[in-house]
Amino acid sequence: MKKHLIAPSVLAADFTNLAKDLKMINESQADWLHVDIMDGRFVPNISFGMNIVKAMKSVCDKPFDVHLMIVEPEKYIEQFRAAGADVITVHYETCPHLHRTIQQIKATGAKAGVAINPHTSVNVLEDILEDCDLALLMSVNPGFGGQKFIYQTLKKVERLREMIIVRNLNTLIEIDGGVGLQNAEVLLKAGADVLVAGSAVFKAEHPSEVISRMKSLGENTLMV
Ligand code: DX5
Ligand code: ZN
Repeated sequence: MKKHLIAPSVLAADFTNLAKDLKMINESQADWLHVDIMDGRFVPNISFGMNIVKAMKSVCDKPFDVHLMIVEPEKYIEQFRAAGADVITVHYETCPHLHRTIQQIKATGAKAGVAINPHTSVNVLEDILEDCDLALLMSVNPGFGGQKFIYQTLKKVERLREMIIVRNLNTLIEIDGGVGLQNAEVLLKAGADVLVAGSAVFKAEHPSEVISRMKSLGENTLMV
């Protein structure tokens, strides 16, 4: 199994003590920090904007994986890049000119991702996949942390993995929503590369231990 990445979602962190949680992330085996931006329009919740991203970036050394759950994301890409985004992911459902938006992200020097909602078929990615560094499959309806994993996502991971293999691409598959130690292994086996985990990490008694355990999954698999 190739090595997967763990991206804790800061949405579930303690907002009254972000510095403490970000220090924990710095010292943990987390690969990326997943940063959820919500606008109250595309999703029924509002999180935070670029000023907070910039502040978090000043105390967190991990690459920032910024997930834009906002309408008209093309208006804000440069600002999120300037605030410290290393990966910028937009939703297929919000981008009528997705190819252009992906190129716009890449022009800033960030890695570009496309996210799809639980009801959106992976087939819509067919003609954009080769332009994307990452494809994010939502495994809950976007807008809130702490929701239950939608099991149909597993089939979507398998189908997307197949599409990537057939096209000989390096696009990473990221899974976001309801991910934790209970389903991480099966997601990796289905072909996931990046696991986002909010509540499973930050609401745990020992968050960095959960990160280490998720990171070490698959390590004991015997190679035959
Ligand atoms: C949901 C967000 C997720 C969320 C995941 O709209 O995109 O990144 O933070 O939280 P958990 O892991 O708690 O489901
Ligand atoms: Zn997210």
